Amino acid sequence: MDDQAYDPAFAQAVLDGLAATPKRLSSQYFYDAAGDRLFQQIMASPEYYLTDCERASLQEHSDAMAVALSPGGPFELLELGAGDGSKIGFLLDALHRREAEFIYRPLDISAHVLQLLAERVRPGRPWLDVQPLAVNYMDWLAQPRRPGIRRVFAFMGSNLGNFSEAVAIAFLAALRGAMTAGDFLLVGLDLKKDPAIIRAAYNDSAGITAAFNLNLLERINRELAADFDIARFQHCPSYDPKSGAARSFLASCCDQQVYLAALDRRFHFAAGERMQMEISQKYDAALIDRITQAAGFAVAHRYYDERRWFTNQLWVPAGG
Ligand SMILES: C[S@@+](CC[C@H](N)C(=O)[O-])C[C@H]1O[C@@H](n2cnc3c(N)ncnc32)[C@H](O)[C@@H]1O
Repeated sequence: MDDQAYDPAFAQAVLDGLAATPKRLSSQYFYDAAGDRLFQQIMASPEYYLTDCERASLQEHSDAMAVALSPGGPFELLELGAGDGSKIGFLLDALHRREAEFIYRPLDISAHVLQLLAERVRPGRPWLDVQPLAVNYMDWLAQPRRPGIRRVFAFMGSNLGNFSEAVAIAFLAALRGAMTAGDFLLVGLDLKKDPAIIRAAYNDSAGITAAFNLNLLERINRELAADFDIARFQHCPSYDPKSGAARSFLASCCDQQVYLAALDRRFHFAAGERMQMEISQKYDAALIDRITQAAGFAVAHRYYDERRWFTNQLWVPAGG
């Protein structure tokens, strides 16, 4: 690859994904400025129930969460893949009411979305120490911990579901390795429910989720000088109620070649060939038990929205 007109990690991930069988692209790269805007529209769409459910769960249970988190002294609230900060306010305010001593450090790969987050969480909270960090949280986990301050990780929005089970366990085990007794992980997980509700959430009638997936091809065109013809790919979501895996694919509408000029690589797509874009795993109690045990966590508290479509949970290092 020639030198650095593009992000080399992005270029490598795209190359690896397009060379794989079946082809895949990583949803981690959905979030450029246009992707951030589209995801905000998805969250506001009537079909995408996840955000409303998690907001309701946090609104109802933030005081209980603050009671659980406060004893044990000062902490950093490290929100991984924080996004635009549209839900965390309930917890920040509840922690403030409990007089908890904490720094809020939202981590996101998108500097643009962190700007939106800061504009949302700062007003009206003069007491809040917010220190956004534009990083890949995978890389950040190797950071040494600050002495004398606990870690409370937050990983919300069912972001864990964007990993396969094996990758989720490996990620959680790495997180567990960065934690010690007194630390917590607050997770948000989308639960199995009527498949029609889940299918609609990933195939909204306004076509925003389709545009969100296709936007990654636009990003590859722009950053890697590629020639994806967006009109020749179609958004094809699927949901398997048994495994709980919701998947998004882009299917090639015809036999075609795509050229990535920045990398001087050409890829062939057969008519109907599907490229995996995203997995959004839906959970049940058995799966949550399996992954927490495998990764070395114990579930300390479980909270739900009224319909029990979504759960927020506080996990602690097992045996810690
Ligand atoms: C689906 S959005 C969810 C945002 C937020 N957690 C919520 O619940 O609304 C995922 C966010 O994670 C960020 N992200 C994805 N992979 C990341 C990584 N490896 N490191 C840091 N941020 C990442 C994206 O930029 C995006 O803002």
